[in-house]
Amino acid sequence: MSENVIMGAGGRATAAGLDNVVAAETALSHVDGEAGRLIIAGHDLETLVATHDFEGAAALLWRVAGLDPAPSREAVAAGLARARVEAFALVPKLLAATEGLSVTEGLRTGFSMLSDEGALPAHIRAVGAAPVFIAALCRREAGAAAIAPDAGLGHAADFLRMLKGEMPSDAEAKALNAYLVTVTDHGMNASTFTARVIASTRAGTISAIVGALCALKGPLHGGAPGPVLDMLDDIGTRENIEPWLKREIAKGERLMGFGHRVYRVRDPRADVFNKAVTLLTNGNERVLFARDVERAALAALKAAKPDRRLDTNMEYYTAVLLEALGIPRSAVTAVFGMSRVVGWTAHVIEQERVGRLIRPQSRYIGDWPDDKAA
Ligand code: ACO
Repeated sequence: MSENVIMGAGGRATAAGLDNVVAAETALSHVDGEAGRLIIAGHDLETLVATHDFEGAAALLWRVAGLDPAPSREAVAAGLARARVEAFALVPKLLAATEGLSVTEGLRTGFSMLSDEGALPAHIRAVGAAPVFIAALCRREAGAAAIAPDAGLGHAADFLRMLKGEMPSDAEAKALNAYLVTVTDHGMNASTFTARVIASTRAGTISAIVGALCALKGPLHGGAPGPVLDMLDDIGTRENIEPWLKREIAKGERLMGFGHRVYRVRDPRADVFNKAVTLLTNGNERVLFARDVERAALAALKAAKPDRRLDTNMEYYTAVLLEALGIPRSAVTAVFGMSRVVGWTAHVIEQERVGRLIRPQSRYIGDWPDDKAA
């Protein structure tokens, strides 16, 4: 091991994960992992959620990123509505090209089908296309035909309508808006970093978001909610909670929805989602069960890893909230991407303004040829 690799607690090489490395300056969001505080574009998360819908949050992030001219919420809402309609024309080609792929893989293909050139800017086309593609891919899984967007609806409500074939209630549209606003951006997470690296090569917005979605899809990042629901189902009964958790931890398995690279306390987004799902369902049995599992999991993690500060991350209540909204399990990661694409594109805009290629160094630890031996 090289002497310059920083050793973390337990002998782990923390440099391997770039822990605490500042890779960029951003005005888009800040994660205070010790205080459990998330600031997005100058607003505390809770304030942002209370004062902005998805279109408003997108306009705000793109303004803060430096988009010129600065977009209003109304201009963004109109642009996204038009982009949803345009994207629907690509759905037959998308479905033909993604037979047998998961919804997230289908969305990855869908993003790849977009061009960087077009009448609408690439960031608007990408964000507008996501709900159209996801809804069509989900409906294909259910053996149903795709439903065309309604440009008169808000982004969240239109997605639920395209997905389920019926108008969502105000409460459902509000809950999905709360989810989408909350996850728009989150510091230098793995997918955002990926987007910035790609943007720094001047490869363009669409390439950056395709790469970012590839990073998001892993279970250590945005792929956890499906496994959270699998866990809740597998546990099944209250009597089984403790034995199940103990068994999994003893096997060395990670409990999905717990732990975070930056948060050392509870992820504030988990609270926003817990509140939203409680409002939406009146705290139904599934929500109460999830809370009981959460309580037991925190106790089990504390007992098993007393030196670690492992708390609930946002993926835990993402799973419960999106399930309550009737979003299929297979689509939860893609729905995360449907919102985070706003953050990715804002970071692309910010990175392109910086204009410097991101090109770090590595430390060679391999063998030297004899003539170069040092
Ligand atoms: N369950 C059990 N043990 C865990 C968990 C967990 N969920 N999370 C971390 N640990 C343990 C690890 O096994 C490791 O223990 P060890 O050093 O004794 O081997 C230690 O805690 C590592 O702790 P950290 O350094 O804080 O974790 P790291 O930064 O490497 O990982 C991560 C963070 C990937 C999120 C991890 O907590 C995890 O795998 N959680 C489960 C998956 C998950 O919920 N992903 C969603 C993340 S949120 C998001 O991206 C939006």
